[in-house]
Amino acid sequence: MSFDLLVKNATLPDGRTGVDIACSNGRITAVEPGIAAEAARVIDAGGRLVSPPFVDSHFHMDATLSLGLPRMNESGTLLEGIALWGELKPLLTVDAVVERALRYCDLAVSQGLLAIRSHVDVCDDALTGVEALLEVRKKVAPYLDLQLVAFPQDGLYRSETAERNLLRALDMGVDVVGGIPHFERTMEDGARSVRALCEIAAELGLMVDLHCDESDDPLSRHIETLACETQRLGLQGRVAGSHLTSMHSMDNYYVSKLLPLIAEAGVHAIANPLINITLQGRHDTYPKRRGQTRVPELRAAGINVAFGHDCVMDPWYSMGSGDMLEVASMGMHVAQMMSRDAMRYAFDCVTVHPAKVLGLAGYGVDVGCNADFVVLQAADTIEAIRLRARRLAVVRRGRVIAESDPAITRLELDGRPDHVDAAAYAPGR
Ligand code: FE2
Repeated sequence: MSFDLLVKNATLPDGRTGVDIACSNGRITAVEPGIAAEAARVIDAGGRLVSPPFVDSHFHMDATLSLGLPRMNESGTLLEGIALWGELKPLLTVDAVVERALRYCDLAVSQGLLAIRSHVDVCDDALTGVEALLEVRKKVAPYLDLQLVAFPQDGLYRSETAERNLLRALDMGVDVVGGIPHFERTMEDGARSVRALCEIAAELGLMVDLHCDESDDPLSRHIETLACETQRLGLQGRVAGSHLTSMHSMDNYYVSKLLPLIAEAGVHAIANPLINITLQGRHDTYPKRRGQTRVPELRAAGINVAFGHDCVMDPWYSMGSGDMLEVASMGMHVAQMMSRDAMRYAFDCVTVHPAKVLGLAGYGVDVGCNADFVVLQAADTIEAIRLRARRLAVVRRGRVIAESDPAITRLELDGRPDHVDAAAYAPGR
């Protein structure tokens, strides 16, 4: 028997070691120790971690890599970011958005990030971003799953044409219904927008992903309406609440009632650690709130939690590199998730959990799944986060689409080894 690709001696995220992974016709056909067969290509993982690809459940690809256009966000706040985006929007062209998005996708692929859910602003009557990202979705399809969310950045009701444009965008092929209830003019308008958006999704058979309560206001409770509407309309498993930062500041008693409601509705929670640690708590003196949603508590309530990158070099965030391990690391630190179990969970927040949010089919390093995975220069998932491990090989449908040499630094110190391999410092090595 001959395979297209055979990976030898892998460690899997669940801790299994010495595993071989065989791939044929774009699928994983065997995952077991000691596969003795020919293959067109053999990769020796050398006991390193082989993980399913990274998945980003929350991104803004229409804005990415636009840093400095037309100016910098000097305060670094959310509101200056939204104002700056408003200045940039009329200057956007389809070609420029496509070019930046494709460049970001190259970066993503190089980091083993092979599925992204991107919001796309529909508050522009020309729908420039929508047209551009639909083209990008088609272009990258062979190597990256791009899912698009129709996002009324300026408010479904606050912006005059947003509702019509959102429906146009869905009609053009955008996948998911988005919204921003906390940015509407009143709490009532926010709640009304949640109901309307869920009804649109129910009618069209689509998923929902709202920017929800991205605020330090403990009384911003649109997640409650979102959970309730999800149940009323039978949308369980198809709805996500992004950010949910107000939960950080909410009263504990109220949260104790809220979490079971979210769990019961099967609503996914998406935290965006890099962005919310920089954008939230801006009106505080000291102590300053972190502003990340309550990840360990959401987990304990049985809610599916994913971490998103949200922004890379755009009006809201001038940093970032498409590295979901950096996202996992920040999320874990901000939430003080420092037990071994919690750190492993943080890795799941950038792999299997967001895959569930996106509803990806055939995801995982298992027999019958798509032959999509990443070989990392790390012994296990915790080491991968600690090191932001080098992606030695990125595989899509059984084909190696990105490769890097191991990160090793030569040393010139008398009486000391001649090199440092940071990954060789793992416990037990
Ligand atoms: Fe966002």
